[in-house]
Amino acid sequence: MESKIKELREEAAKAVNELSKSLNDLNDVRVKYLGKKGELTSLLRGLGQISAEDRPRIGQIVNDARQEIEKIIAEKNEILKAKAMEEKLAKEKIDVTLDGRRPPHGHIHPLTYTLLEIKNIFMRMGFSVEEGPEIEKDYYNFEALNLPKDHPARDMQDSFYITEDILMRSQTSPVQARTMESHEPNSPIRMIAPGRVYRRDDYDATHSPMFTQVEGLVIDKGISFADLKGTLVNFLQQIFDKNVKVRFRPSFFPFTEPSAEVDISCVMCKGAGCRVCKGTGWLEILGSGMVHPRVLEMSGYDPKKVSGFAFGLGVERITMLKYGIDDLRLFYDNDTRLLKQF
Ligand code: DAH
Repeated sequence: MESKIKELREEAAKAVNELSKSLNDLNDVRVKYLGKKGELTSLLRGLGQISAEDRPRIGQIVNDARQEIEKIIAEKNEILKAKAMEEKLAKEKIDVTLDGRRPPHGHIHPLTYTLLEIKNIFMRMGFSVEEGPEIEKDYYNFEALNLPKDHPARDMQDSFYITEDILMRSQTSPVQARTMESHEPNSPIRMIAPGRVYRRDDYDATHSPMFTQVEGLVIDKGISFADLKGTLVNFLQQIFDKNVKVRFRPSFFPFTEPSAEVDISCVMCKGAGCRVCKGTGWLEILGSGMVHPRVLEMSGYDPKKVSGFAFGLGVERITMLKYGIDDLRLFYDNDTRLLKQF
């Protein structure tokens, strides 16, 4: 009996120390030796057959053996638990020095980008940036600009009417009258007014019922056509290219007299003639003129004391020419393949 116990003890110690590689293995060993049907337990049960005289001593030996096996299992349990934790930590290790995943950056819309450039150029020349409402009174959109009701030039700018007297503005020119009204009569003005305008128009590669304009207005004592020319040539050479050629063509706008349409040498072929400039070598880029005396008068300015010039340009057109974009609808489609390039 004694040697059997000793044998079991050694066997169990070996099973624990050499063969148990995991907590599961160790548990199997526990069940095998100490469990209800385990080997040591059945030895204890066999104590009944031992003589009363030997029983206390043998009982003691079995109990010692049991305690000893429990102890080595507990020790091994600690070791295996620590090992399991280490493995887990190693496997789940995170590199805290790695950059986080950044959400994708947005991009400045090409129209916004052009607008920023336009604003910067004019602000460097001392212009202020004004704003006017997109829902405008007929008076400011037309009448204050020398386009009385039934004037034929209104046909080119049919818009969306909200009532008889209120419409979606068809041009940024109404900001001219609003700016003059907000100033002390005859005081100098040097402003641009960017914004959206609306027209009853098709939606195709070159038209949209909504687009973006920038208006300009300069008023002071002794402003002449030379100031208009100097300012606009300077602007166009900055926004396109310092070697761009500029041409002024006589034209008509009800709110300017004289009026001029301004062309630049074609940005694609540099004036040689191509598909973009329809073989002419020139691209029409903006409208301008000397502010009509009646327009000054209607907004409280005295044409005998001051004079001015005005201009209006399309931001979509400039952006298309600058970046070679051939379909205006691309600006409004929100296709990130276009937007990502800006
Ligand atoms: N408002 C005109 C249009 O939308 C553009 C324009 C032309 C504005 C001449 C001006 C100007 O201020 O002087 O067609």
